[in-house]
Amino acid sequence: MSRGYKGAAIVGTGMIAGVHAQAVRGAGATVRGVVASSPERGARVAAEWGIPWSYPQLEAALADESVDVVHICTPNGLHATQAEAALRAGKHVICEKPLATSVADAERLAAVAEETGRLLAVPFVYRYHPLVREIRARVRAGEFGAWQLLHGSYLQDWMLDADTTGWRVDPERGGPSRAFADIGSHWCDLVEWVAGVRFSEVSARLATTVPERPAGDAPGAPRTPVRTEDAAAVLLRTAEGVLGTLTVSQVSAGRKNRLWFELDGAGSSAVFDQEQPETVWLGTPEGARVLARDPGRGSPEQRRLATLPAGHPQGYADCFRAFVADAYAAADGGAPDGLPVAADGVRSARLVEAVLESSRSLAWTPVGKAADAMTMTAATATSATPKEYAV
Ligand SMILES: NC(=O)c1ccc[n+]([C@@H]2O[C@H](COP(=O)([O-])OP(=O)(O)OC[C@H]3O[C@@H](n4cnc5c(N)ncnc54)[C@H](O)[C@@H]3O)[C@@H](O)[C@H]2O)c1
Repeated sequence: MSRGYKGAAIVGTGMIAGVHAQAVRGAGATVRGVVASSPERGARVAAEWGIPWSYPQLEAALADESVDVVHICTPNGLHATQAEAALRAGKHVICEKPLATSVADAERLAAVAEETGRLLAVPFVYRYHPLVREIRARVRAGEFGAWQLLHGSYLQDWMLDADTTGWRVDPERGGPSRAFADIGSHWCDLVEWVAGVRFSEVSARLATTVPERPAGDAPGAPRTPVRTEDAAAVLLRTAEGVLGTLTVSQVSAGRKNRLWFELDGAGSSAVFDQEQPETVWLGTPEGARVLARDPGRGSPEQRRLATLPAGHPQGYADCFRAFVADAYAAADGGAPDGLPVAADGVRSARLVEAVLESSRSLAWTPVGKAADAMTMTAATATSATPKEYAV
């Protein structure tokens, strides 16, 4: 990080807020304070995390001139209002995905970022695995050839227990889509970004496999019908007719965070598994090989993000630290490659909306505007700049 964006406020004090706090420190910046759901919780968490201050509410953080960047790490339904307030207060914002729970709100936020000239970044952090960058570099060099099929899954099991509930289950607090918006959105962002494609239409079916869950966290809370999906099966198609398939589940026993994709090209294929991020599988008709992360080999972006020697595992927290460092560099006027920003959050909201619409109509459904369907083929990839991905 170069010039002065060193002060962060973190809004929300749950799981991902803790990851943000570590990433801010890892990126060489300072967490000035946290905003929690209550001043009491804020004070407790600040003490636990070794953070000097807890703000009684968001407005106090926004009034603090030592805060340059506000990290929004709250339940989805709060993102749009809190991020907009922070942008309008002149802060740069890192807003957790989904940027908003509707396309209209996501578009409005992107417009506010544009109007205020502040950074709005969205943590699609799987882009920051060094070997993801390696695959992308090889795509851009034309190594794989024309896409034949793009497929994969994102599987978890933490919603298998019928007693598990929380704000994600409630459409008012979490948004109308759960499994797809929560994790399917990561897969789509990653595959579109790595493969250089845009899915222009989707055909989706959603399943709620656990029909009732407790209405709240309080012990003995009555059970209520679940209105968000536990699983999704999605067919995707680019404007050029390349097919994709995606299986999303939060009810697959034994699967913890298995984001997995395979990109099959006319010449060769690539496989990435988020739970085994130190290697990728590369296949050709003659045979396959496993490539290991190595800061001494491969693409410049792989080398940049490979901060440990080969064989010394890097993982999710390293991705987050690199993402935050890049976001701060962008706030400082830099242009790091592949930083997920407002346009990517809007794009994701459009995919979520199309999946929901398709699951209702049972028909192929276009994703957002026609211009959104623009794709970048391997042949044109080398001359493309990140701006060409803009929504
Ligand atoms: N980018 C990623 O890889 C990634 C991973 C996990 C979660 N997330 C996103 O992060 C967000 C939070 O998820 P989580 O798993 O940390 O949830 P969580 O339930 O663990 O944390 C949410 C926190 O927000 C707090 N909160 C609620 N209302 C608040 C308010 N008005 N002001 C301040 N704090 C408030 C809650 O008390 C809780 O501590 C979600 O939007 C989720 O989609 C992103």
